[in-house]
Amino acid sequence: MLTRLDQIQEDALQAMQTISDEETLQSWRATHTGRSSDLMQVFSALGELSKEERPKVGQKANLVKVALESAYNERFKMIKQAVLERSLQGDQLDVTLPGRPAVRGRLHPATQTMRRILDIMAEMGFQVFTSSEIETDEFNFQFLNFPPDHPAREMQDSFYVEAGDRGDNPLLMRTQTSPGQIRAMRAAVESNPGNPPPIRIVSPGMCFRFEQITPRSEVQFNQIEGLAVGEGITFSDLKGTLSDYARRMFGQEVRTRFRAQYFPFTEPSAEMDVECFVCSGKGCPVCKQTGWLEILGCGMVHPIVLQNGGYDPERYTGFAFGMGSERAALLRYKIEDIRYFWGNDIRFLEQF
Ligand code: DAH
Repeated sequence: MLTRLDQIQEDALQAMQTISDEETLQSWRATHTGRSSDLMQVFSALGELSKEERPKVGQKANLVKVALESAYNERFKMIKQAVLERSLQGDQLDVTLPGRPAVRGRLHPATQTMRRILDIMAEMGFQVFTSSEIETDEFNFQFLNFPPDHPAREMQDSFYVEAGDRGDNPLLMRTQTSPGQIRAMRAAVESNPGNPPPIRIVSPGMCFRFEQITPRSEVQFNQIEGLAVGEGITFSDLKGTLSDYARRMFGQEVRTRFRAQYFPFTEPSAEMDVECFVCSGKGCPVCKQTGWLEILGCGMVHPIVLQNGGYDPERYTGFAFGMGSERAALLRYKIEDIRYFWGNDIRFLEQF
């Protein structure tokens, strides 16, 4: 019996050697220490032994049992430890790895340029006046001195808005920010009808034209309208203000020139050019070999327009200007195709 117990212990410990997972360990425990194990059968057979043998075998069987149990406990701890180590290794943090860059949001180049222009105008005392993107024919054209069949309307083909039959005053997407001039004047007159205050505003926003889309023209674009109305405002004020704007926007050294032009709502009217900053005026493809880049239209507010705004043209004068802000961005960043602005190509937008 004693040798049998030795054999039982040896076999059990031998079987344990290769166990490395909990499931096998549990079945080892059932086989070697469970109710029907060889060891337990020795315990059940103790009663059949002689008085002399019984204590010796009983003692030995207990020692074997303790040995197997402590072997089990030890192996159990070992397995748990290994599992823990493996999971820690999996979660290991390598502090030498380079970090992942956080993706930063940014403003659209058109918005950046728009804000830069508005900042400059604010420095010169112009307040922002917001006007509607949907206009009536009256505000978009008629009050601005475009009579119903005026050929200048053809310069600005329009998107009309379905709104029933409104006769010769249909609704349309504004083709220019100039109707903001009338709205700003009327708002000022309303604030003090007998003695309307002087005005100095810029009115930014989206305009829409039913046009062929090309690298130079889009069906939608932002404009910034400017308007100054008061007593004694002259063409020199216009030139001074806009030349100073150009220096602040494009650099103190930049030269400007004014060319005569026609707009129905201003008289006289002009366009302002800045010296081409790609070739410094020598002539290049960007300025089409002229040395100059056109950046805005401007002029003295037409007496009819002042009147439509509620300002007495005998007493007040004013100047106005309008510029395309994508065009300014185009020049500022030397972008060659205006379609990039609303194309939503992330590779383009990420450059600004
Ligand atoms: N509204 C004109 C356009 O869209 C731009 C313009 C020219 C605005 C002269 C003005 C101005 O205020 O005086 O082509």
